[in-house]
Amino acid sequence: MDERIVSKERLEEDEELNIRPDSLEEYIGQSEVKENLDVFMKAAKMRDESLDHVLLYGPPGLGKTTLAYIIANEMNGNIKTASGPSIEKSGDLASLLSTLEPGDILFIDEIHRMPRFIEEILYPAMEDFALDIMIGNESSKRNIRIDLPPFTLVGATTRAGDLTSPLRDRFGIVSKLQYYTVEELTSIVKRTSKVLECVIEEDAAIELATRSRGTPRIANRLLKRVRDFALVMGNGNIDLEITKLALDKLKVDRLGLDDTDYNLLKAIIEKFNGGPVGIEALASSIGEEQTTIEDVYEPYLLQTGLLKRTSRGRMATRMAYEHLGIFCPDKID
Ligand code: ADE
Repeated sequence: MDERIVSKERLEEDEELNIRPDSLEEYIGQSEVKENLDVFMKAAKMRDESLDHVLLYGPPGLGKTTLAYIIANEMNGNIKTASGPSIEKSGDLASLLSTLEPGDILFIDEIHRMPRFIEEILYPAMEDFALDIMIGNESSKRNIRIDLPPFTLVGATTRAGDLTSPLRDRFGIVSKLQYYTVEELTSIVKRTSKVLECVIEEDAAIELATRSRGTPRIANRLLKRVRDFALVMGNGNIDLEITKLALDKLKVDRLGLDDTDYNLLKAIIEKFNGGPVGIEALASSIGEEQTTIEDVYEPYLLQTGLLKRTSRGRMATRMAYEHLGIFCPDKID
């Protein structure tokens, strides 16, 4: 199992399900996305229509899947889930589509990784609620069209730019999820600790939130580990002292950076003279996949101002030198 705190993988699905909010009202943060979705869902219900297709994008762990489940709940539909890479054959998608009932939500995670020829089956399904199937053999090929019930496709992706424009254009609602503020993450940590029936002090919740790189999935994952330390080394209650100790043991620093972030920044500074360095060279020098760097690590480092992206490649900023305690030459800004 991947023990890293920052990870592309989700928590075990059922483990995450029971700490997930069920309604928009309970969902903390992403206020713009939430307010807009609330209007669109209310309008769809007033018209007795299915909600228009929704594309959610942004870095991993910010609640795209959670929102898809909330949409299903709020619209009183069932949710069917799949992920882009798991849909390999046209039959895989056809069988998913053919089981949909009116008002259902079809959630496709990592939709940018769906093969292109499969995408084309989605176009008529999204636009006309129709499934076009080719039957027959080489000598007598025929297209038959099967009507589908009105449904809502909710697509999630970490890379909206990788979606083809015909697919992107078929989503009526496109929402970008942002990193959470410390205040929002503090509320999430407090909410989750209630669900997990553990006591956390305010300053401990703030500390945890500060070190969770703007990401609820990380905050909830760290909360569980801190809870373990509190149970074994204390009286079970989570206070500031045990939180700091646990996070230090987990090698999560003041800004929420882990070993891979350090390796990445250190490589840019020490091996590539502060940059600029291309993503391929950087990925191979620290032994990480390029997409993992681009989707998981880089967005937060850019957001916190530790990393800069220029047309010639990535560069470490003065803040990165200072955070790592490395002497920073005057020319770096
Ligand atoms: N748990 C994970 N993400 C959450 C969110 N945005 N609001 C409330 N609880 C959460």
